[in-house]
Amino acid sequence: RWKIYGSNWCNLTQSLIMQKLEVFGANKLKGKINISGSKNASLPILAASLLSKSKITLKNLPKVKDIETMLLLLDSLGSKVKKIKDKTIINNSNQNKTFASYNLVKTMRAGILVLGPLLAKFGKARVSSPGGCSIGVRPIDIHLKALSQLGVKYKINQGYVHATAPNGLIGSKIRFSKISVGATENLIIAASLAKGTTILSNCAIEPEIKDLVSFLIKIGCKINWISKRSIKIVGVSKIKDASYSVMFDRIEAGTYLVAAAVTEGNISIKNVIPRIIQTEINTLKKIGAKIKVKNDEVHIVGNKKIKSINIKTAPYPGFPTDLQAQMMVLLCKANKQSVIKEDIFENRFMHVAELNRMGAKISTDGNKAKVIGNINFEAAELMATDLRASVSLILAALTAKGKSVVNRIYHLDRGYENIEKKLKKVGAKIRRVN
Ligand code: UD1
Repeated sequence: RWKIYGSNWCNLTQSLIMQKLEVFGANKLKGKINISGSKNASLPILAASLLSKSKITLKNLPKVKDIETMLLLLDSLGSKVKKIKDKTIINNSNQNKTFASYNLVKTMRAGILVLGPLLAKFGKARVSSPGGCSIGVRPIDIHLKALSQLGVKYKINQGYVHATAPNGLIGSKIRFSKISVGATENLIIAASLAKGTTILSNCAIEPEIKDLVSFLIKIGCKINWISKRSIKIVGVSKIKDASYSVMFDRIEAGTYLVAAAVTEGNISIKNVIPRIIQTEINTLKKIGAKIKVKNDEVHIVGNKKIKSINIKTAPYPGFPTDLQAQMMVLLCKANKQSVIKEDIFENRFMHVAELNRMGAKISTDGNKAKVIGNINFEAAELMATDLRASVSLILAALTAKGKSVVNRIYHLDRGYENIEKKLKKVGAKIRRVN
C-alpha cells in the first residue's frame, strides 16, 4: 500500500531527514534550466481528481515530496495511482474512503484540499485539520465557513474536521472575507458537483487556480470567470475521463532567476509562460538585471550593481510571498537599504536569523524587514526551516566563498525537483551528502 513509484516510503523519509547539501561558492551561474511542473497547481488538481469515478491522466507533475504525499493521500482514500513514463494515472473506480489522516496532512497542508471533493462526492468526510506551521498559524476558517454556505455541517473533534452534507452540496453565493488560495480552490472543486449554481467572489486568482479551472473544465465541469475575482460554477453530475498537463512552476522559475541575478550569472529558464511571471520580471529589471523574453523562455543576465528596492508581498498579480525569502538574499547585495513587507503570512521571516549568521544585516519589526545592502555572505553551516527559507540559504551560499552546509533539506525536497542537478548543470558546486 505504501509503495508508490516503487520506493519504500518509510526508508525514503528516514534517509531524506539525514541528508544535507554542501555548497561551494562563489561562481557565476551560466546555462539553461528546464522548469518543472507546478507543485501548487498539481496539488489542487490531484485533490480535484477525486471528483472522478473513473480515470484521470496527469502530465508534468513535479517529482517532489509534496506530490508523493498527495499521491499517498489519494492512495489512502482508495484511488489507484500508477506512473507510466511521464504520465500519472489515477483510477478511482474503487475510490470509496473519506478519511484523511493526520500523518499525511500534517506534513503537507494542502491535504485539506481533499475536503471539498470528498464532501461533493460522498456527502461526508473526516479530514485532519492541518494545524499551524513554521510560517504562521494558517487557519482553515475561510474554507469551513464557505463550505457551510454550500450546506455542509461540521464539527472539529480531536484535531479532525468531521463534515457532512445531509442534503448534498447546494449551490450558493459566497463572498470570501479574505483572499485565500486554498479556500478558493476547495470551494471551486466542491461547487463543481453541487446542485445548482455557485458564485464565488473575492477569489484568489493565482495562475495555479486558473490551471485548476482549466483542468476542471477538461473533465466536464461548467465554470467561468464573470469578473476579475468572481467565478460562476454550475454543478454537474458527471465527470469525464481526461488527460491534462499541469502548468510550469512559477516559484521555481522565479528562484532560478534570482539565482542568476545574485551570482551575476547568465541563465535561460525554459518551459515557462513569461507573462505569468511579469511582476517578478519587472521587479528584477528594476533591481538592475537584464532580462529578455522569447516564447517559452526567459533569459537573465545579472548585473554587478544591484539597486535597492522596497517590496511588499500580495496576492497575485502582486509579488509572491513564496519568493520573498529568495528576493531578500538578492537585496542583501543591493547598493542601499531595502524594506520588505510580508503581507500574506505573519511569521515568514524564519530565514532572517540564518542569513544574519552568514553576515547579512537584516532586522525585522512585525511584518517588515529592513535589509542593509552591500553584504558579502560568508559560508556557514545552516539549518533550513521551511521550503522557501531553505532555498534562500542555498542562494546566499552560492555567493559565499568556501563551503556552506545546509541541514534539514527535506524542506527543500518538498517543492524543488532535482535542485542540485539543475544548479550543477549551470555551474554551481553543490552536492547532496548523507
Ligand atoms: C497557498 C500556497 C502557498 C502560498 C500561499 C499564498 C499551495 C499548496 N500553497 O497556501 O505556497 O504561500 O498560497 O500565496 O498552493 N487564511 C486564513 N484562513 C483560512 C485560509 C487562509 O486566515 O481559512 C490566511 C492564511 O493564514 C494566510 C492568508 O490567509 O495568512 C493566505 O493564505 P492562503 O492563500 O489560503 O494560502 P494557502 O492556500 O495555505
